[in-house]
Amino acid sequence: MDQLKGVVLHGGHGTRLRPLTHTGPKQLIPVANKPISQYVLEDLIEAGVKDTAIVLGDVYPEKVIDHYGDGSRFGVSITYIRQEEPKGIAHAVALCEKFVGGEPFVVYLGDNLLKGGIRRYAKAFTESNSDAMVLLCEVGDPQRFGVAKFDENGNLTGLVEKPREPPSNYALTGIYFFRPTVFKQITQLTPSWRGELEITEALQSLMEAGGHVSYEFVKGWWKDTGAPEDILESNRLILDELETNIQGTVEDPASIQGRVTLGRGSKVMKGSVVRGPAVIGEGTTIEPDAYIGPYTSIGNHVSFRCGEIENSIVMDDCQIDIRGRIADSIIGPGSDLATHRRNRTQAFRFTVGDHSRIML
Ligand code: G1P
Repeated sequence: MDQLKGVVLHGGHGTRLRPLTHTGPKQLIPVANKPISQYVLEDLIEAGVKDTAIVLGDVYPEKVIDHYGDGSRFGVSITYIRQEEPKGIAHAVALCEKFVGGEPFVVYLGDNLLKGGIRRYAKAFTESNSDAMVLLCEVGDPQRFGVAKFDENGNLTGLVEKPREPPSNYALTGIYFFRPTVFKQITQLTPSWRGELEITEALQSLMEAGGHVSYEFVKGWWKDTGAPEDILESNRLILDELETNIQGTVEDPASIQGRVTLGRGSKVMKGSVVRGPAVIGEGTTIEPDAYIGPYTSIGNHVSFRCGEIENSIVMDDCQIDIRGRIADSIIGPGSDLATHRRNRTQAFRFTVGDHSRIML
């Protein structure tokens, strides 16, 4: 069987995720304490992909290289390819022609998350003779995506990018399987209204040229994590599958309720309550009488001194000392949040970047 290669797209400006994307690519934002694109890489590995190219954009590409290195930490090989300008997914794919070297390959957008991984789809594709295979997911807002068109017999007849009048509710997920026949179609593309070479158009012209494009419907959830609410929703979806694992210490009387992960060297001090699903990293301290509520991810080396939090992400090295409740928040690494007055009547909601300092 042909060896499927992997291509992870790690570019884009992530404007909807500012200020978090002022200091790093959106794909490195942690969900349940793991960068989004690491779920992607792990899905590829689980599908048997041993050789992956990561296409880097211009938002701190060195942070991506720092995190993934040559791939040996994950038991695979990683090659980096630089996309100098954000000219679209198809442009990024074209840069990988030499890397792909005539093999079938899977393109996985580094900000997409898919429950259950891609193993079964990878197998279906490599065993088929399709030129390409797309994964489709039913959505309520197809205008935001590439959308599939079907004839009355359910055959795929076309693909359109962000149509004003969607021909179906089936969105193209950011996971595409290709054989090298796609490269020729990409060379014939011209930039779209958003100035990009659209992979949706490459697929459409592949079909028009007589190529065979097959599809599968994804089972379970799929998330494109473009905005803060998508990140928090992904965090909830992943925490929903969390299993309890307590490696740190829980003082008596403190209470751990439901499914909670507590990393090595972390401590939940007396009088505190952690109600899962929640994940707490390594070397973090939850000081006395704090409350960590459901759907919260707290990173490594955080000091949570006081207050309550739920449905939120707190990244590494933060200090939180809020007399009140934090909800629906994403707090960048190294931030310091504190209140000086007692105010329990409201919930604070933050999306703050690295090393922020907020005193209320
Ligand atoms: C891109 C593709 C779109 C696809 C989506 C999936 O959109 O162009 O067809 O449905 O990814 O995440 P973008 O995120 O560039 O708007």
